[in-house]
Amino acid sequence: MDKERYIGIMSGTSLDGVDVVLCEIGTDGCDLIASLAYPIPLELRADILTIIEGKHTLEQVGQLDHRLGVLFTQAVGALLIREHIDAGSIKAIGLHGQTLWHAPDGAYPFSLQLGDPNILTARTGIPVVADFRRKDIALGGQGAPFAPAFHEFIFKNINARLCVVNIGGMANITVLPNPVNDKLIGYDTGCGNVLLDLWTAEHLGEPYDKEGEWARSGNVEYGLLDAMMSEPYFSLPYPKSTGREKFNAEWLQSCLRGKTHAPEDVQRTLLELTALSITNEVLQFHTDIALLCGGGAKNGFLVERIKALMPNVEVAIAQHADEIEAMTFAWLAYKRLHEEAVNLKEVTGASENAVLGGIYV
Ligand SMILES: Nc1ncnc2c1ncn2[C@@H]1O[C@H](COP(=O)(O)OP(=O)(O)O)[C@@H](O)[C@H]1O
Ligand SMILES: [Mg+2]
Repeated sequence: MDKERYIGIMSGTSLDGVDVVLCEIGTDGCDLIASLAYPIPLELRADILTIIEGKHTLEQVGQLDHRLGVLFTQAVGALLIREHIDAGSIKAIGLHGQTLWHAPDGAYPFSLQLGDPNILTARTGIPVVADFRRKDIALGGQGAPFAPAFHEFIFKNINARLCVVNIGGMANITVLPNPVNDKLIGYDTGCGNVLLDLWTAEHLGEPYDKEGEWARSGNVEYGLLDAMMSEPYFSLPYPKSTGREKFNAEWLQSCLRGKTHAPEDVQRTLLELTALSITNEVLQFHTDIALLCGGGAKNGFLVERIKALMPNVEVAIAQHADEIEAMTFAWLAYKRLHEEAVNLKEVTGASENAVLGGIYV
């Protein structure tokens, strides 16, 4: 069968931008044709964070849904114009939406993504597939992470014990099926860049610590690291997923317990926390190769620490490291249009593999 064209849109917990990709997808693979990182205006970013912090009215939440729908439309438009692509050649757009709250456990589990898909389809004329996570949650799953199914699809021919490590705002790993373990495993290991970004914004006024150079200038505070690593999330069995609801400024303050540390030492300790909470998990699965992706793979010092903590694992940066998450949602749109269930039940804990997402036309 010929390959079909899909767009994928992802904007993660980091709120660093909207990733848009154009892919050609068929049964035997997914080729990346073009990609674009579209900026989130500072005012919109600030409003999203305010709403996540719970300082909001319902009217503001509704308006945010509209504003994000417009932003995603602009991002798609920018890619189509830059690449001289006719909207009619695109089968569908897979839209993740902006997560506002992810609470997959408890009596009334839910995961809330905003960005009205109706606006996106009305203004582009392209069908949109959105609302991927809630079906999985309705089936008792975590509704996350979803990238493992896509990793399985694109890396199925690698003959090694392979682990994919995505370091976004949160970090998640995928353990590909291998001769020792025939199941697909994937879960959030905990915080990725989110606390590093938060502390950098507070002390340097920058969105992130470029290459981890500021962290490199500090020393690990081992008492603080122990306090952070005692977070119960790290010892929970998988399936599990997390977000800004847990790893946020209050969480960091509770670990600091009012003690003063040099800001660069806290940054260094946070970087060690990210590296250690990832490598502890990767090492459990007797991994041969770890492929890093997400923005954290560009943090040279973080990558250096991950390599040092797993000297016997071959650590490399994945191809399309910045685009894999958005490619996942292009592929999920393909799966939805073909009415194919997604192999996620072992990852998320859902009772069955389901056809995911709603179609907006
Ligand atoms: N050059 C860099 N040096 C250090 N960190 C970086 C660099 N580039 C990106 N990052 C980190 O990656 C984050 C974005 O990662 P991303 O995978 O887009 O996360 P999300 O999926 O949460 O949006 C940024 O917020 C920043 O922390
Ligand atoms: Mg991002």
